[in-house]
Amino acid sequence: MTRQGESSEQKYRAVGYERVEPKATYAPWSEDTDFLHVNEVIKEHTLVDRYRCYELWQLVPQAMKTPGDLLEVGVWRGGTGALIAAQSARCDRSRVVYLADTFTGVVKAGARDRYYRGGEHANTSVEHVRRVLESLDLDNVRILAGVFPEETGEEIAVGGGFCFCHIDVDVYQGARDVTEWVLPRLNPGGVIVYDDYGFYGCEGVTEFVNEITATSDLVVIHNLNGHAVIVKA
Ligand SMILES: C[S@@+](CC[C@H](N)C(=O)[O-])C[C@H]1O[C@@H](n2cnc3c(N)ncnc32)[C@H](O)[C@@H]1O
Repeated sequence: MTRQGESSEQKYRAVGYERVEPKATYAPWSEDTDFLHVNEVIKEHTLVDRYRCYELWQLVPQAMKTPGDLLEVGVWRGGTGALIAAQSARCDRSRVVYLADTFTGVVKAGARDRYYRGGEHANTSVEHVRRVLESLDLDNVRILAGVFPEETGEEIAVGGGFCFCHIDVDVYQGARDVTEWVLPRLNPGGVIVYDDYGFYGCEGVTEFVNEITATSDLVVIHNLNGHAVIVKA
């Protein structure tokens, strides 16, 4: 129960949400030993469930059919960033994985964001993320500390553009600014994954992705696990 007499389901329905329970049973994450090894290391350092982690794991090699580097904005303690970097290294160690975070919490919360006020998820550090990366022997990562893109975008020397971007910033304006920075640098066939799409409390991200769904050179997919996935034509 949330407020007195109000269940979570009632709270969701009041804003057009409901608990989503897909009926499929295929579960490849349970037999993928490479994924299971990496997931065991990163699971204590992520807020992202294994269904979304497994989708990132599967999408990285798909995106890497396209040339370019990889980017995550919204790293927190490094869980999904390390997962993306581990999978990228298995495919092609020469690609750089940029991991960008303020390391002082969420920024740019505004009127479209129901839950966030700014400063959430500040309980992390660059050193913590480095330790997680070291535990997986990853040397293909560059960490960018500061507000992205304003403070750290210029630290990226992207001659060859990007093939993959994971945006996990929780709020409308953050998702918008990262998208506007990365889209012109994303090679055709490149993929953007939005975390938070469809989660109660993260309506700003859902609103932003819905706004760009009609963009002519983008294929936008709503995955019921709480991801939106964009493929650039
Ligand atoms: C939900 S956490 C990320 C979770 C992480 N991907 C995981 O594996 O659990 C959101 C993060 O986004 C960061 N963030 C939000 N907006 C940002 C921005 N514009 N630039 C850099 N970091 C940002 C916050 O500091 C916070 O650490």
